[in-house]
Amino acid sequence: MNHKNIVERSLISKKGDLKYLGMKNGELYECIITTENPDKTSNAAPIGVLCKDPEHVILYLYDGTHTLENIKRSNFFVVNLTKNSLIFTKTTLSDISEDNFKYYKEYPYIEEADAFFMVKTEKIKDITKNNSLGSANMSIITGKVKNVVKIKEFNQPLNRGIYAVIESLIHYTRMNLADKNTQISYWGRIKEMNRVVQKVGSKEDKLSMKEIITKIKSEYNNLE
Ligand SMILES: Cc1cc2nc3c(=O)[nH]c(=O)nc-3n(C[C@H](O)[C@H](O)[C@H](O)COP(=O)(O)O)c2cc1C
Repeated sequence: MNHKNIVERSLISKKGDLKYLGMKNGELYECIITTENPDKTSNAAPIGVLCKDPEHVILYLYDGTHTLENIKRSNFFVVNLTKNSLIFTKTTLSDISEDNFKYYKEYPYIEEADAFFMVKTEKIKDITKNNSLGSANMSIITGKVKNVVKIKEFNQPLNRGIYAVIESLIHYTRMNLADKNTQISYWGRIKEMNRVVQKVGSKEDKLSMKEIITKIKSEYNNLE
């Protein structure tokens, strides 16, 4: 583990409090989870992280991911916050090399992250989930937040809610310019955005979607 002895002493850490990073109860953020592989190398994958309360997070992990296997074995993971789309892209499309990781104590984090925090697993529940793609085995991981480390100043972690609302608003403003088929297609997209917001968005995002949908229903007929 020699390469893991590089402790970033310059980093300021706080005892588990997600408010320090602007994370709010009940919101789901798109993050990069870093874990330790059986051969002690590091793994990174984009994963949604639900902020249960300032000291706890929940992950919903599909069976077969390295992330789940690593967490089940080592009982910890690191949540990295970034708005760098290339990190999401690279960690989704392939495995990133060891050079991209740094270590805080023995915990791997992504060098480019704005902030990260360590999480100790408290509970793992295995479930079968039925969705549009059929049925899938998943695990629900509840973890306790340990040290929270801010590397760079940043405003907020990534939540899809606001983007879904903005996309819906754009579709709405284009509906009155569109023919019936295009309107139906926009309506389908707005319903999909609403599904996303109901799953991951804030109170304001949900209220926005309700208002957008009510307005569309009052102005347009026969969109189904
Ligand atoms: C933005 C984003 C969010 C994701 N969230 C999840 C998630 O919450 N749970 C999950 O099991 N997979 C999620 N995925 C898919 C995993 O990242 C993907 O399966 C990845 O290949 C797993 O990598 P691993 O095998 O190295 O763990 C997400 C992907 C993206 C792009």
